[in-house]
Amino acid sequence: MHVGIIMDGNGRWAAAKGLPRLEGHRRGVEALRKAVRSAIELNIDFLTVYSFSTENWSRPVQEVMDLIGLLKRFIRNDLADLHNQNVRVRIIGERISLAPDLKKLLNEAEDITKSNTGLCLIVAFNYGGRQELAQAMQKIAAEVRAGTLSASAITPELISAHLDTHDIPDPDVIIRTSGEQRLSNFLLWQAAYAEFARVVAAGGHGAPLRAALNQSLRIALIAATPVVFVLLSFGRQVAVLIGGSAYAGAAGLLLWLTLARAILL
Ligand code: FPP
Repeated sequence: MHVGIIMDGNGRWAAAKGLPRLEGHRRGVEALRKAVRSAIELNIDFLTVYSFSTENWSRPVQEVMDLIGLLKRFIRNDLADLHNQNVRVRIIGERISLAPDLKKLLNEAEDITKSNTGLCLIVAFNYGGRQELAQAMQKIAAEVRAGTLSASAITPELISAHLDTHDIPDPDVIIRTSGEQRLSNFLLWQAAYAEFARVVAAGGHGAPLRAALNQSLRIALIAATPVVFVLLSFGRQVAVLIGGSAYAGAAGLLLWLTLARAILL
C-alpha cells in the first residue's frame, strides 16, 4: 500500500490562529512524525510526503529558508529514530541544484537507511511531477539518439522506469490535508489511478468529512487532536493511514467523535 500526502494548509491554519506561518509548518512536521508512526503501526509499505515543490521557490525568501531549515532539522533530529524503526528514507525531486550541505544530508539519509526493510518514507523535496516527466523524456530521448532504444519501445512502463519513483509502486491514495482536491504537480504520472481522498482535517470542517471522502472509501478508524489520523478501507484492500496536517485544531475532538461514530456504522 502506498499513500501520498500533500501536507498543505499549514499557512492557513497559522493565519487563522494569528500565528506566524512558520508555526504552521512546524506543526506540519509534527503531523508528519505522527503519520510516520501510524504508518509503521499499520504496516503501510510506502508513504510519500510533499515537503517542498518546485513551485515553492517562488515563496518569500524567509519562508523558503524556514522550510529548508525544517527539512534539515527533521533529518538531523529524526534520522536515528527512523533508522531504529527500520524505516528506509528516499528522496525524490531535483537534487543537483541544491546547496551542497543539503545535498549531503539528503544523500546521507538515503545511504544510512538503504538496507532497512520497513516503511519506505519518500520525501518529495524540490519535486514537481512535470519536471520529473521532462527529465525522464530527456533521458529517453538521449537513449533513442544513441541508438540504444527505438522510439516504438517507448511505453508507459518505460516512462515509469525513467522516473524518480522507478522502483516504487504507484500510490493507491492521495491525501491533501487542506481538503483541496488538486494534485498541484504531485506524482502526476504515478497518481493516474490513485483514489483522491479529500480529508478535511478539522479546522471546524469535521461535519462534511464523510461526504468529502470518496464513496468507495469507508472510514474505519481514527485518531487524535490536533492531528487527525484516518484509517480507510478500500474494498478488499488493506487499511490506509492519513495523517492530517497542522490544520487540525480544537475541532479535532469533534471530528474524532464523528469518525468514531462512522466506524460503528
Ligand atoms: C504548502 O502549503 C505546503 C508546503 C510548502 C509543505 C509544508 C510541509 C511541511 C511543513 C512538512 C515538512 C516536511 C518535512 C520532511 C520536514 P502551506 O502549508 O503553505 O499552506 P497554505 O496553503 O495554507 O498556505
